[in-house]
Amino acid sequence: MAILPILKAPDPRLTKVSRPVEQFDRTLAELAQNMLETMYAANGIGLAAPQVDVQQRMVVMDLHGEDEPPNPQILVNPEVLDASAETVTMSEGCLSVPEAYEEVERPARVTVRYQDLDGVTHTRECTGLEAVCWQHEIDHLDGVLFVDHLTRLTRDRIIQRLVKEKRLARRGRDRTIRPAA
Ligand code: NI
Repeated sequence: MAILPILKAPDPRLTKVSRPVEQFDRTLAELAQNMLETMYAANGIGLAAPQVDVQQRMVVMDLHGEDEPPNPQILVNPEVLDASAETVTMSEGCLSVPEAYEEVERPARVTVRYQDLDGVTHTRECTGLEAVCWQHEIDHLDGVLFVDHLTRLTRDRIIQRLVKEKRLARRGRDRTIRPAA
């Protein structure tokens, strides 16, 4: 198992549409385990493969409550079959958009079809946090971040901050590799 680096916005790799998974093999199972480990290490509740620079349609999630045992979920090739007209607004964050939390309005109920690691197809209806999280993760597979659902102004403000932070981090790195006199 390994903790994988998580891509941070803005990054063109986060805007790509991922390919469907076709091989249900050991490599896929290992990727799923590494994604779960990476998600837990980052204190996240969901992670999509493109966030770890793998452009394949797979997401992992764990929405267990504080006093409940872990409940890892692995969804391969998930798709929203049906979404309610009724919406819900929740504060969202993303491991690829550090320290930004904003309210996003989405359908309150969705029916999702996905495959498990053996390629078996499942269909589930979900609501609440689960519905929001599934939609957020499936968005990643289509190159969409939660900030893309916000007003242009709010989105630009968040992205500008991340650009600035990346620039500062790069400078910091340059400084450390320069030999000191
Ligand atoms: Ni995310």
